Amino acid sequence: MSATSRTTDRGLVARGVTVTVDGTTILGGVDLTVLPGEVVVLVGPNGAGKSTLLGALTGDLEPTSGSVELDGVPVASYRARDLARRRAVLLQQQRLAFGFRAREVVEMGRAPWHRAPEAEDDLRMIAEAEARADVAHLAERLYPTLSGGEQARVSFARVLAQGTRLLLLDEPTAALDLQHQEALLRVAVQEAREGSAVVVVLHDLSLAAAYADRVCVLAHGAVRATGTPREVLTPALLSEVYHHPVDVVEHAGHLLVVPVRGPASAPPAPSSPLPKEDSCPV
Ligand SMILES: Nc1ncnc2c1ncn2[C@@H]1O[C@H](COP(=O)(O)OP(=O)(O)OP(=O)(O)O)[C@@H](O)[C@H]1O
Ligand SMILES: [Mg+2]
Repeated sequence: MSATSRTTDRGLVARGVTVTVDGTTILGGVDLTVLPGEVVVLVGPNGAGKSTLLGALTGDLEPTSGSVELDGVPVASYRARDLARRRAVLLQQQRLAFGFRAREVVEMGRAPWHRAPEAEDDLRMIAEAEARADVAHLAERLYPTLSGGEQARVSFARVLAQGTRLLLLDEPTAALDLQHQEALLRVAVQEAREGSAVVVVLHDLSLAAAYADRVCVLAHGAVRATGTPREVLTPALLSEVYHHPVDVVEHAGHLLVVPVRGPASAPPAPSSPLPKEDSCPV
């Protein structure tokens, strides 16, 4: 195990990250720290800047100003292969892997370890990743023929196979059914408990409440609040940020975040026979 590969001593630190595109600031002065051992969930409305922030955290997007450091070193100064040995990324929009089988997509996660001692682990890492993402049975299928959720799980398996100590996942559960949403986030938490730093973008605030160590709420390109789910996921803050009344209720020890809705429309009355006295005379 090389020193460069498995240590995430100081985690990920973003300071004053600002991204300006064509004169418009889409991310303004964001500070965020993600430590080894924790799951930080980014939430916020569409267009709030979550994917842009994730891009800056991964090193794929150079901020207009501010800095992002991974283990005390600016992400921009890592060589591509060293960065790929330290952090794995699941993008919001999957690039379609035409012509590849699911197994080959998962194998791509091992590419950064080519010719490194860790390559000895390739087969084990691939098998474990496929099992944890529940895609082993899809291994021989052509990736483009998989369902949306199946593709997302194969991509998650690729991320796990990479075996990095920093995971950055942009809406990994968006296409998943209820069982697989829970399973994926349990794996994310497990990774964190084993020492990884994990950043996950989610829209489902109840999932965020259940699985986040800390939640960071973004709105209009800025951090609106950061803290534990109980500190941050309050009706007042969420109603303000989402421009929709939101309730937070406790159920079986977990917070459930629910949009306030008007009364459900009454179901159509069952058709019943007319009473005798109303019957038309023959
Ligand atoms: N290259 C770009 N050029 C112009 N505008 C951009 C560019 N990239 C992002 N934006 C804008 O910046 C804002 C933030 O985008 P971003 O993708 O980070 O949002 P998000 O929080 O991930 O939203 P969603 O929940 O819909 O995925 C959006 O209004 C988007 O249209
Ligand atoms: Mg996004």
